[in-house]
Amino acid sequence: MNIQSNNNAASGNADNTTSTKPNPFADNMQKVTSIHHWNDHLFSFRLTRPQSMRFRSGEFAMIGLMGDNGKPILRAYSIASPFWDEELEFFSIKVQNGPLTSRLQHIKVGDEVILKPKATGTLVNDALIPGKRLYLLATGTGIAPFASLIRDPETYEKFEEVIVTHTCRHISDLSYGKDVVERTMNDPLIGEEAVQKLKYYPTTTQEPSEHEGRITNLINSGKLFKDLNLPALSPETDRIMICGSMPFNIDVKKICLENGFEEGSNSRPASFVLEKAFVGE
Ligand code: A2P
Repeated sequence: MNIQSNNNAASGNADNTTSTKPNPFADNMQKVTSIHHWNDHLFSFRLTRPQSMRFRSGEFAMIGLMGDNGKPILRAYSIASPFWDEELEFFSIKVQNGPLTSRLQHIKVGDEVILKPKATGTLVNDALIPGKRLYLLATGTGIAPFASLIRDPETYEKFEEVIVTHTCRHISDLSYGKDVVERTMNDPLIGEEAVQKLKYYPTTTQEPSEHEGRITNLINSGKLFKDLNLPALSPETDRIMICGSMPFNIDVKKICLENGFEEGSNSRPASFVLEKAFVGE
């Protein structure tokens, strides 16, 4: 990712009237409207959305804060809200010594965050060819783009079934995804379709829960399909989006290729797409 820097940048420059160098991010500041801390290492927050900003559900944008040295600290974050939402939602880890999230985790309602309004990404419906079933496979904060896609009516227009799997170490790491799924099912606009078409399959790897183990193992053993009463993966009917850590993406991509799936992109849609979740700093 291209991280911009500018030595003269200063948010809230008290000397604006005399300065000849305007804050280059003045037009890119958005206000925090809400924050929710899910546990000691995960939080979500919402920002005001620039009126002119357009994006497709599943895309990411650069967000950040001004550093103490006057340089911006920007990172790629998936937009977790759908394209139609009047605000923007994000889901983040908290890294205690991370340059951005060590500070971002302390934001309060009314604070300003830098948002570069140009969104991009491959976890979009446009990068997949038509199919019957959509699998959205996530670990950790990789659930964010899928939180956007499962709230987009187009996803339910394009697919008969939408299966979201979310693998985390602990049950509390699943809370944000669980909350989004529940809110989606109760949404007056898409709730009815979501109840019929959306299947949510959370798994934990380091704490007992209803479904245990890495999703890769649950796919390879066939347990995922048995539990959900679905046929084995097939490139004829199924489409897959992958979002998690690098090792996770590599392992799931291998499963896809072994099963005859082809990797797609915006310019060449195919049967699966992947993107790395925002994982480290
Ligand atoms: P595990 O606990 O067995 O490592 P992390 O926090 O390290 O990004 O991991 C988030 C979740 O993703 C954990 O439940 C972890 O399981 C799982 N995971 C990590 N790497 C892989 C992989 N290569 N394939 C499948 N699941 C993975």
